[in-house]
Amino acid sequence: MRSALAATSAVLLTGTGIYLHTTLRGKLRAWDGILDRAAFQGDEQVLDMGCGRGAVLIAAARRLPRGRAVGVDLWSADQSGNRPEATLANAAAAGGADRVEVRGGDMTALPFPNDSFDVVTSAMAIHNISSAEGRHRALDEAIRVLRPGGRLFIAGPPPFVRKYAAHLGQGTVRGLGPGHWYSGPWIAVSLLRLTNRGSEHDRPAPSIGT
Ligand SMILES: C[S@@+](CC[C@H](N)C(=O)[O-])C[C@H]1O[C@@H](n2cnc3c(N)ncnc32)[C@H](O)[C@@H]1O
Repeated sequence: MRSALAATSAVLLTGTGIYLHTTLRGKLRAWDGILDRAAFQGDEQVLDMGCGRGAVLIAAARRLPRGRAVGVDLWSADQSGNRPEATLANAAAAGGADRVEVRGGDMTALPFPNDSFDVVTSAMAIHNISSAEGRHRALDEAIRVLRPGGRLFIAGPPPFVRKYAAHLGQGTVRGLGPGHWYSGPWIAVSLLRLTNRGSEHDRPAPSIGT
């Protein structure tokens, strides 16, 4: 009985430690790696869908001396202290406020024209949309606002991310490893990465003059 209790406590403590590590460092390190490998020119227009308090948005802005990082969020309570002022304060503390813009908006109906961004990111946000149809709309919106040849990076729970890739019919999926586990391998995170082939998927048909 005692040993079972001790084993349970050890698992819970380890899980809490891993969770804290991921939230405070692992997630940021993972995205630093993703964005470093993306090798920005420095003048890109980047959109972060479901930016929350700005972990990925600000990491992107730091790589954009001549560009702009725009975050869109509904500011729901699934992240504590979630509000645009907090995101802007975090950007100011990191020294990138002049390149960061935050917008209230729903990623299933993005307030941007087609082909507006060179890069679209989204971290642990799309799976919060409750219906598969809504998640598909968010994915289609990401592709719509991404210019042909632009790059998309989406992180989320592995079963969701595999479905995102299947829906979009393009891209590669890889696990982000133990550094991005939330408490253990049972809550891992995968990344979908793709370069927009510029398909006309879900775009309005062009109007043809007579
Ligand atoms: C778990 S938080 C992740 C925040 C941030 N991407 C990060 O990695 O720290 C999920 C975020 O997605 C936002 N969100 C959920 N559904 C959304 C939607 N339909 N449109 C825009 N944002 C949404 C929530 O408000 C929340 O800020």
